[in-house]
Order: sequence, then structure tokens, then C-alpha cells
Amino acid sequence: MSFALTDEQLMIQTMAREFSRDVVAPTAAERDRTCEFPVENLKKMAELGFMGMMVPFEYKGSGADTVSYVLALSEIAYSCASTAVVMSVHNSIVCESIYRLGTEDQKERYLKPLAAGDIIGAFAMTEPHAGSDPVRQSTTAVRDGNYYILNGTKRFITSGKNAGLTIVTAVTDKTKRHKGISAFLVKKDTPGFSAGNLEDKMGLRASDTTDLIFDDCRIPAEDLLGEEGDGFKIAMQALDGGRIGIAAQSVGVAQAALDAAVDYAKIREQFGQPISKFQGLRWMIADMAVEIEAARQLMLSAAEMKDRGEKYTAQASMAKLFASEMVNRVTTKALQIHGGYGFIKEYPVERFFRDARVFTIYEGTSEIQRVVISNHILKDKRSP
Ligand code: CAA
Repeated sequence: MSFALTDEQLMIQTMAREFSRDVVAPTAAERDRTCEFPVENLKKMAELGFMGMMVPFEYKGSGADTVSYVLALSEIAYSCASTAVVMSVHNSIVCESIYRLGTEDQKERYLKPLAAGDIIGAFAMTEPHAGSDPVRQSTTAVRDGNYYILNGTKRFITSGKNAGLTIVTAVTDKTKRHKGISAFLVKKDTPGFSAGNLEDKMGLRASDTTDLIFDDCRIPAEDLLGEEGDGFKIAMQALDGGRIGIAAQSVGVAQAALDAAVDYAKIREQFGQPISKFQGLRWMIADMAVEIEAARQLMLSAAEMKDRGEKYTAQASMAKLFASEMVNRVTTKALQIHGGYGFIKEYPVERFFRDARVFTIYEGTSEIQRVVISNHILKDKRSP
């Protein structure tokens, strides 16, 4: 690895690796089968400081940098992508947004319990008819004295059912396009707020994905995040960080798929020798390793830019685009190396292949990442 990791970053990576392989891995296949939310993993991860990784100590976080965070997230994804996506949305999007923009009172009431892992965070922007184009969302928030009244439906919300706190975007002024969207902190059990049915998904089956329904849901005005009209920018900035998290999940799952393929290729014999001796497979293994390393470097460089306080929107999209497409190629090859055994649930590559599929879709499709990247390139070329 060309990045010189600090002792602290290496220590966090090692701790996450040991925890992931000893505690998370043994039950991952079973949770995939039962769709059981990884509540025990998350509790133990909170004890290790993984639920408020980039939040300062004063708000019950671990005060780690983004590089340490993505290294830890990759390690969790190595064993269980469902657990990793919960960790990712919770840390990258929810904790980060409240830390950056919350009032002291919001940090006290929400960030502390989130960072301590007492509650899980979710982020709700997508709607049935507003996915890639969230400016056209139709959930409304109408001011009524010291409250906002929310009405509408959000879709495909990670941890929608299990979250204790959800950041929800809604339209406060329809005439102002993205500047008429605001963000709210919505507690579980708020009257008028409910989760719909769990989606029956192809992968990430132990993480819950639900609709969230708002029916005259009254939110105190002090739970507006940032200023009225800031919601779209808050969401875009949150997704910049979130997208590095998806790159980290991709790297973790891809590394697990490569390791599984290598182990299998060494013991599986055909034509009188281990299949790892065949050049066709060796080249596949080499290509997989190169792609994973390239994605890892993109992930680390975007994380380092964020840690240095630089603008990292395009780098986050590049890391997300490349890593999420890479993991789909790598899991396909790993499954192919397993032959017929890759197609059955006895071997974990079948799960890796299914889990990886959504990475090119959520937190912005590959097509949207290309929009973000090309916008930045063309804008830069225009500037003096
Ligand atoms: N940081 C800060 N500000 C940003 C920004 C960023 N990364 N991106 C855009 N903005 C600002 C712009 O500067 C602009 O502000 P001004 O008017 O003040 O200049 C404003 O936002 C509007 O920008 P655009 O005109 O570029 O917006 P757009 O409507 O063309 O959309 C888009 C841009 C990139 C396509 C955006 O809509 C997008 O990212 N779409 C994908 C949505 C997405 O990723 N959804 C995922 C859902 S969450 C999820 O999957 C989570 C989960 O549970 C796992």
C-alpha cells in the first residue's frame, strides 16, 4: 500500500479486522438467510467506538479521521455487507451532518446517543418518484407555529425500521427548487411517522430497507437541521462522505471475494492439479488484485482529501464509481472461479455477488457519479 498509514490508523484497522473476522463473520451467512438485523454486532461495534468514529470525544465519539473510518468500514464489509451499510449511513451521513450543522442542543440530544451507539441513524431523501433527481421530491413540511407538519412517503430507506433518529428532507417552499428543501431530525415514535414493510431484497438482506410514511407528522421547529432551505446542500454534502463509505464497502466485499477465490483455487483440483496452477485463473486473480488495490487507493485519497479539509466531491464520486463497478467485476470472477460451487449458498461468494449488486445503485447510481465527475471537470476547465 503506497499510503503511509499512521500507527493509530493501523491500530484501528487491525482492531476492526480482528473483530470482523472473529465476531461478525461467523453469523453473516445465517443473518443473510433470516434477514435478522445485526443488532448484536452493532452493540459490540459501539463498544469499540465504531458508531461515532469521526465524532469528537466531547460528543461521545472516537475522534478518528476519515482514513481510519474507511479502513474500519472495509473490514466490517469484508465479513458482512449488511452490517457495514448500517455503519456507513449512520457514521458518514447522519453523525457527520449533525456534527457539522447541528445546534449544540441537537448535538446534545441526538449526536451523543448516536455516537455512543445507543440509537441508529437513517437518512431519508429518496421517494417513490424521486431517486436520482431528489430536487423533485414531494414530501412537504409546512410551518405551523413552533412546528413543521410533514406529509409524504420516503422509499428505500436503509435502517428505516430500526433507526432511532432519521434525517428527513422535505419541501418547505416549492417555488425555490433545491433552495426550497429543508432537513429535519425525526425521532422514532413521533406521532404521524411510521415505517412501511421491509423490502425483500436480492442482497444486504440483514439490513432493513423500508418506506417511511409521514402523515401530519409534527416536528418541533428546533429539530430543523441547518437553516430552512439548506436541506438539499446538506444532503449533497452528506452524500459526498457517504460515497467514500460505499467505496469502502466495495473494497471490503471485493477483498473477501478475492480471498475466497484464492483459497478455493488452491484446494480445488481438476486435470490432476489445483486449478490455481492454470494461467487463465492466475490472470483472473491478478486482475482482481489490481482492481481492488486501485479502488483502495482512490478510497484513501478521497478520505485524505476530506481529512485535509479540501473539497473532495469529485474524488468521492470517482472512488464510489470505480470501487462499486470493480466489486461487481471481482465478485463475478470469484464466483466463476468457484464454478458450480459458486452458485450455491454453501460458499460465501454467492452472498458477496448478491450484496455487491446494489453498490452501483445506492447513494447515487454510476450514471449520477459520472454526472458529478464530468460537471466538476468541465467547470474546472472553464475557470481561469
Ligand atoms: N456539495 C455542496 N453543494 C452541492 C453539492 C455538493 N456535493 N452538489 C450540489 N450542490 C449544490 C450546488 O452547488 C447547487 O447550489 P447553488 O444553487 O447554491 O449553486 C445546488 O446544490 C444544486 O446543484 P445542482 O444544480 O448540481 O443539482 P441537480 O439537481 O442538477 O442535481 C445531482 C445534482 C448530482 C444529480 C444530485 O441530484 C444527486 O446527487 N442525485 C443522486 C441522489 C442520490 O445520490 N441519492 C441517493 C439516496 S441516499 C441513499 O441511497 C442512502 C442509503 O440509504 C444507502
